[in-house]
Amino acid sequence: MQLLDGKLISQEILHEIAHEVQLLKNAGQRVPHLAAILVGNDGASETYVASKVKHCTQVGFESTLVRLSANITENELLEKVEQFNNDDSIDGFIVQLPLPKHIDEHKITLAIAPHKDVDGFHPMNVGKLALGLPTFVSATPNGIMELLKRYKIETAGKHCVVLGRSNIVGSPMSILMSKNTNPGNCTVTICHSKTQNLKEFTLTADILIVAIGKPEFVTADMVKEGAVVIDVGIHRIPDSSKKSGFKLIGDVKFDEVASKSSYITPVPGGVGLLTICSLLMNTLKAGKSFHN
Ligand code: GUN
Repeated sequence: MQLLDGKLISQEILHEIAHEVQLLKNAGQRVPHLAAILVGNDGASETYVASKVKHCTQVGFESTLVRLSANITENELLEKVEQFNNDDSIDGFIVQLPLPKHIDEHKITLAIAPHKDVDGFHPMNVGKLALGLPTFVSATPNGIMELLKRYKIETAGKHCVVLGRSNIVGSPMSILMSKNTNPGNCTVTICHSKTQNLKEFTLTADILIVAIGKPEFVTADMVKEGAVVIDVGIHRIPDSSKKSGFKLIGDVKFDEVASKSSYITPVPGGVGLLTICSLLMNTLKAGKSFHN
């Protein structure tokens, strides 16, 4: 078993981005600028956004964090989005999800200018992804592709089983793995909450990508010997032995699945760090296209 080390690969990518930022500066251009809108004070969202902003600083990007009250109206949020759409000093921005129940996430996503949608959530960008056209690929699937590429994992002709069909991860992931690309060229099966006899599918997976949001759902008896296992899940569970009072676990029961797999991502230190790198890569792309 070999670990797919998200920390190592993310450091590599962050160095590459920082180098590109230096080249932009040397050419007298301004550095890429990522803005984030955080509505309310959901604990997990706070952590994610803080990490995004911290990594912007690390690579030399400019960043802006706008915090809005959970009571903001949908129209007020739409106005903020419009303001960012029209602000030439911002290359890309994200609205952190989930949003409070009274705000229609789809409406907000649609309002983001596609050329600033560095999350890759706008239907125009999702459509381009489906057609195999250049676009902002949503961050987690893009991060997983980067991980597979940099570890030179063979994917062509393999059976890739994706657990979960979310718009953010499962669905775009299944499209990317089926494309005539490297990584890619897989035969893809997408499984979800209504899939019957799930284990029959997972046991035939050469590459198993798990994004169902259930702690330690995938156990050793569900995994084929020698499979590549990618765990997208991240859950906090109480742990009094930790200073923070909690530990992080994934959707995969790591200890028992690791010994059966050829490669596996740990949690933490796996996919999560790559997600942030992808967002920064998209922002760099947006920044560069502003100057071209
Ligand atoms: N919530 C969970 N993941 C994401 C993400 O990648 N982008 C945004 N905007 N919200 C999220």
